[in-house]
Amino acid sequence: MENIQKKAAELASFFLNNLSKFDKIYIVSHKDTDGIAACALLYITLSRYKKVETRIVSQIYTETLNKLKKIVGDNLVVFSDLGSSFCEEIEEKFKYYIILDHHPVKNCKGNILNPHLFGYNGAYDLSGSGAAYLFCKNLYPEIKKYSYLAILGAIGDKQNDPFQGLNLEIIKEGKGIFERYGKNIFIKNVEDDLKDGEYFSSLLNACGTLDKENLGLQVCIQNKEAIKEAKKIYEKYDRELDRALKHFLENKDKIIEENRKRSAYFILTNTKRNLTGPLSTLLIKIFNDKPVIVISKKDNLKISARGTKELVSQGLHLGEALKIAVNGKGEGGGHDIASGAIYHGDAEEFIERLDFEIKKQLKKGFLIEGELMFDYENEKIASSVAEAIDVDNEKPLKATLIETYSNRNIFITKVKSESIGTFKNVIDDVLVCIKSAEIMKE
Ligand code: C5P
Ligand code: C5P
Ligand code: ZN
Repeated sequence: MENIQKKAAELASFFLNNLSKFDKIYIVSHKDTDGIAACALLYITLSRYKKVETRIVSQIYTETLNKLKKIVGDNLVVFSDLGSSFCEEIEEKFKYYIILDHHPVKNCKGNILNPHLFGYNGAYDLSGSGAAYLFCKNLYPEIKKYSYLAILGAIGDKQNDPFQGLNLEIIKEGKGIFERYGKNIFIKNVEDDLKDGEYFSSLLNACGTLDKENLGLQVCIQNKEAIKEAKKIYEKYDRELDRALKHFLENKDKIIEENRKRSAYFILTNTKRNLTGPLSTLLIKIFNDKPVIVISKKDNLKISARGTKELVSQGLHLGEALKIAVNGKGEGGGHDIASGAIYHGDAEEFIERLDFEIKKQLKKGFLIEGELMFDYENEKIASSVAEAIDVDNEKPLKATLIETYSNRNIFITKVKSESIGTFKNVIDDVLVCIKSAEIMKE
């Protein structure tokens, strides 16, 4: 296994070797504590070399990358606290890029620094700002006095229970900067109001959640006016969160009852979309025997899922479960213990799909899954049969999940169910539908 520090130094050399080839550097980072802290570290370091423009976003999509490409051209773009799941597309689209991230990743080559690729777990051992820090150290050694930003990112991403792996190394290296007490950390070289690590991290999180990311960046570099303003914003955010939380606590028994047969606590809400993350993080501390899935119904569905280390050790991987559950009707993914998604579809349908996947991971209850495959003469027939079946399945049968699609001349129907009787009935129904679709075609 390659060494992560060595890779960070290599990426710094790549930066220096190509510096003369671009006029400007674009930083694209994630809109939470970790992403804002990463962006600040990169801004401080890279603006010593070239003009820097920052963009803080809640998520990237293929479309985001296409738009970005038009703006960036052949300049350098640095992705922090995001980008891993798009590494191939990024490699393909951008001439000069660097990804500094900690989200789950497989088979990524190229200019990427991600703890998962070096034998560490990105959910616990290093944050996105930590990855940015390892890179920046090679370009601007004095960045060490800002090492608190790498640790704030870790706190924001809940990697402080306890600090471990590379996070712990950064703390040890920062002698004279940090003082640990329990899960929290005392930061010596910042403004008085920001010395409590948990509080500092919460301020940045509030800035991100309430779309004040530039204010967050200013707070990172100790701008006094910005700190004052951020404190006000934080209070407002905290009140909103408190209100939502109180509502759930009043309905605790109802939530437990509604989810009795489910693998997780599915909690539907009308609160702001960007509060699902913070709310789910709070709720998993209260409802901690099963995962917590908070779903905001404003516009399309915005979903935040949180688990516990105990559940992860039993096989839970929320990132994988969400990725499967969205099934082409949105985007989802993330860590084993914390993940999120957007879903363009019915809430009940999504809950059923996700419930099934989590049950499968935790090996709960009786689950049966089957696949019917038909090989047709040509693509056209296969896709028209698939379409015909899809219409029939608009309303999935209770506790049964059906997916139909065609791939070239092959038509596939997947049936998932929690009861063998239903499973058999659905298969029978599907076969009848296929038969009639075929007859119609003739
Ligand atoms: O995208 P990102 O990695 O920054 O998402 C982090 C989110 O996941 C945070 O909201 C944090 O609460 C949650 N998380 C967690 N436990 C972990 C890692 C992350 O709850 N070990
Ligand atoms: O939005 P939330 O804080 O719940 O996101 C938790 C985690 O899920 C983050 O690591 C985020 O990057 C990831 N996520 C994702 N795809 C989405 C939404 C969130 O990978 N569509
Ligand atoms: Zn992060």
